[in-house]
Amino acid sequence: MAKKLFIETLGCAMNERDSEHMIAELSQKEDYTLTDSVEDADLILINTCSVRERPVHKLFSELGAFNKKKKEGAKIGVCGCTASHLGEEIIKKAPYVSFVLGARNVSKITEVLHKPKAVETDINYDESQFAFNDFRSSPYKAYINISIGCDKQCTFCIVPKTRGEEISIPADLIVAEAQKAAKNGAKEVFLLGQNVNNYGRRFSGEHEKMNFTQLLRRVSAVEGIERIRFTSPHPFHMDDEFLEEFASNPKICKSMHMPLQSGSSKILKEMKRGYTKEWFLNRVEKLRAVCPEVSISTDIIVAFPGESDEDFEETLDVMRQVEFDQIFSFKYSPRPLTEAQNYPNPVDPEVAKERLVRLQALHQEISDRKIQRHKDKVYEVYFEELSHDYYVKGRTNTNVIVKVKGSEELLGTFKNVRITEVARTVMTGEIVEEKAS
Ligand code: SAH
Ligand code: F3S
Repeated sequence: MAKKLFIETLGCAMNERDSEHMIAELSQKEDYTLTDSVEDADLILINTCSVRERPVHKLFSELGAFNKKKKEGAKIGVCGCTASHLGEEIIKKAPYVSFVLGARNVSKITEVLHKPKAVETDINYDESQFAFNDFRSSPYKAYINISIGCDKQCTFCIVPKTRGEEISIPADLIVAEAQKAAKNGAKEVFLLGQNVNNYGRRFSGEHEKMNFTQLLRRVSAVEGIERIRFTSPHPFHMDDEFLEEFASNPKICKSMHMPLQSGSSKILKEMKRGYTKEWFLNRVEKLRAVCPEVSISTDIIVAFPGESDEDFEETLDVMRQVEFDQIFSFKYSPRPLTEAQNYPNPVDPEVAKERLVRLQALHQEISDRKIQRHKDKVYEVYFEELSHDYYVKGRTNTNVIVKVKGSEELLGTFKNVRITEVARTVMTGEIVEEKAS
């Protein structure tokens, strides 16, 4: 009888893809099938995130709960970024854990499964050319890794310490994955990397030279792929050639993630982001000039050490000037192994809280006003997911989530949809014959 696998994935899209890779390896080499029930599972995996402190704390309480619920003889494995940086400590604190597998070692999942108390966390391990088995949680959209690791040294960020140095995956492998996904029915690919527009800086072995713009052209030539998304690009690498390709290539979805982090050039320098407030605003201006319909999302950290009221005002100023369509905002969280953990002048936690509230309130005000422009507009929507009450959800090219009444037949199709009800997260619409504007 097939063994059962329960997997919980925390963190970013790359973790989602790592989980898919592990599921593929386990189902095809070890005969596992997925279950939603911890009690039924023969193997329980937690794929962890360590970007902020909270998920790390949560890990140990969750492990305890899983250990209580699991059936006799079931194994628990800890994978991902927290596994990379805590390693053996996890087994010391939670001795019932069977193995620990780092974020850059997921290809070894079927190996560690049979090695009691294995700890595989080598951050120099090169998985850039490993041919994983195929598993996709959605047949309509395919995540494809284009690089592993990150070469930037943002002083707040633990990722380079958990995922190691950046290595690009050869373009031929990426294109082959896109072709396979298209053959299996996916019309959208989502290219993943910590810093996608730095693509091509380093390959392992001899490979055709190529930058991200050229890679985008290669992927868009794949027959059957009609939409391309990617995350995350870095503002520092947003040269004109890249922005022009983004604007003019009809397969590239017109939603750009531009992680600002801070609007203060002083703080950006302390973060070692490599750009200033002016550079960021200039890139937004260029992007909007070549692609007026673009929607822009961002990541912002408030209360980085030394952030004064004036620095924070600079961030609000960028928000007012840019009017982001979506923001992901965080209070600074000191992380082990990072440079900034030792920086002086931490911001008072109460002040940090207040700043986050103010930032989010400003975004809400901007967003509530901006989303009204969608009312009665007709957009092309790609349907990806069933929703409750007989609705089906999809996305516009600019990443607006829309639901319409309907059923399975809509999944994996494009339809023109008129927005009938504007809302913060999911808009409501109706399918129309009329062409998208
Ligand atoms: N290159 C990746 C970054 C991964 S971390 C990407 O752009 O997706 C994702 C976000 O988490 C970062 O952009 C940053 O805003 C936030 N973050 C990272 N380290 C943090 C820390 N120590 N405290 C608070 N937020 C942090
Ligand atoms: Fe982290 Fe900066 Fe890389 S945010 S993942 S070090 S680009």
